Amino acid sequence: EHAVPYRLTVLGTGYLGATHAACMAELGFEVLGLDVDQSKIERLQRGELPIHEPGLEELLRRNLDSGRLRFTTSYEEVAKFGDVHFICVGTPQKKGEQAADVSFLDAVVESLAPHLDRECLVVGKSTVPVGTAERLADKLVRLSPAGMQVELAWNPEFLREGFAVQDTLRPDRIVLGVTSERAEKVLRDVYAPLGEIPIVVTDFPTAELVKTAANAFLATKISFINAMAELCEAAGGDVTQLSQALSYDERIGGRYLNPGLGFGGGCLPKDIRAFTARADELGASQALAFLREVDQINLRRRARTVDLTRDILGGAFDGRRVAVLGAAFKPNSDDIRDSPALDVALKIAEQGGQVTVYDPVALSNARAAHPHLGYAESAMEAAHEAEVVLLLTEWQEFVTLDPEELGAVVAARTIVDGRNALDADTWREAGWDYRALGRP
Ligand code: UGA
Repeated sequence: EHAVPYRLTVLGTGYLGATHAACMAELGFEVLGLDVDQSKIERLQRGELPIHEPGLEELLRRNLDSGRLRFTTSYEEVAKFGDVHFICVGTPQKKGEQAADVSFLDAVVESLAPHLDRECLVVGKSTVPVGTAERLADKLVRLSPAGMQVELAWNPEFLREGFAVQDTLRPDRIVLGVTSERAEKVLRDVYAPLGEIPIVVTDFPTAELVKTAANAFLATKISFINAMAELCEAAGGDVTQLSQALSYDERIGGRYLNPGLGFGGGCLPKDIRAFTARADELGASQALAFLREVDQINLRRRARTVDLTRDILGGAFDGRRVAVLGAAFKPNSDDIRDSPALDVALKIAEQGGQVTVYDPVALSNARAAHPHLGYAESAMEAAHEAEVVLLLTEWQEFVTLDPEELGAVVAARTIVDGRNALDADTWREAGWDYRALGRP
């Protein structure tokens, strides 16, 4: 048993915050989570998770029951309780701009600081434009009654949705942007229960940049293979075999090299745009010019999927039935933010197609955001009388669909595999016209 010397708070209980709070309590810390959304706090306090995340609700309930985890809306209470305060609020893309909106971070600092009257550490975990930490550090000291006894550190988070718990409890690395040995020691203590994890101790700008660089690299890798898919389409190659062959080169590696409809979600697309916007501000535009291409390649996959579907239907959508399997931006998530699948569904509907969408978990989110689209309660129902079926999010339940069963309900056996997730031969043998991105 290790000593648990600090009491932790988590400010913002969205994806990142809810996960961080539950995982830190699981490690043995007393944790107080805060959100300004009263109804969210009431749900969390009852043990209900507002998001779909495998394994997290269990952790939440267990630690609520043990009394180690609680939630509040009061900054006063948080300031009194905590020795280490983690800021976990979102930094969404600004409306009509490429840059990230950091106003939630400023709001947290402005609400918390006036109550900080003793020594404590405030730790930013949100993904931010480089330079934000230094600005917030000044603000924090200026607004806190305890002044210099209140310190800021930057500790970016690399968790993936769908794997949030395991990524938090077994991270690949921990990055600590600190300006004092004390801050470093506190954070090393906090993460000690995780065991042997590589720790990189650095300054604020590097810590902020590591996070955006990681997401930019992953986005680039995905767009690279999707650019190769475009070439395969032009030259008659098979990008899945190309990807497989590349993956055996250990310097390249096979992860994030799956060609298809491309990346979406609340992070990768937004982060590469915010990164280029920040580079522009810093006078370093040229360094990240390639990320605009990465974004364009990614968006072209969606357009290509719409075009391919229209071609299959003979050049026009007017009223033709299209089944869309998948609404979440990736499997094992109910997140529909910048979802490639929904984007394609919406574009086809806009052009006059009669679209029916099904997703095992993200259906209610999709319905709430886009009530005018058609929805079904199962893959079979969505495919009923469809002239073309689009597989756009590779949920396990879609990958294991029986081509014969599905073939019995459709009007025409044509499938577009937007994620290169199905076995082409199996579907062709069952009489399907099997189409995929980047393959003959
Ligand atoms: C991403 C990063 O992977 C995390 O490390 C990071 O912490 C997180 O953003 C964040 O900044 O908060 P996430 O948004 O959960 O995590 O999604 P990923 O699992 O990385 O998938 C992103 C998208 O890329 C999905 O739409 C997925 O379908 C797509 N993808 C992924 C591909 O198209 N091909 C691949 O080979 C891999």
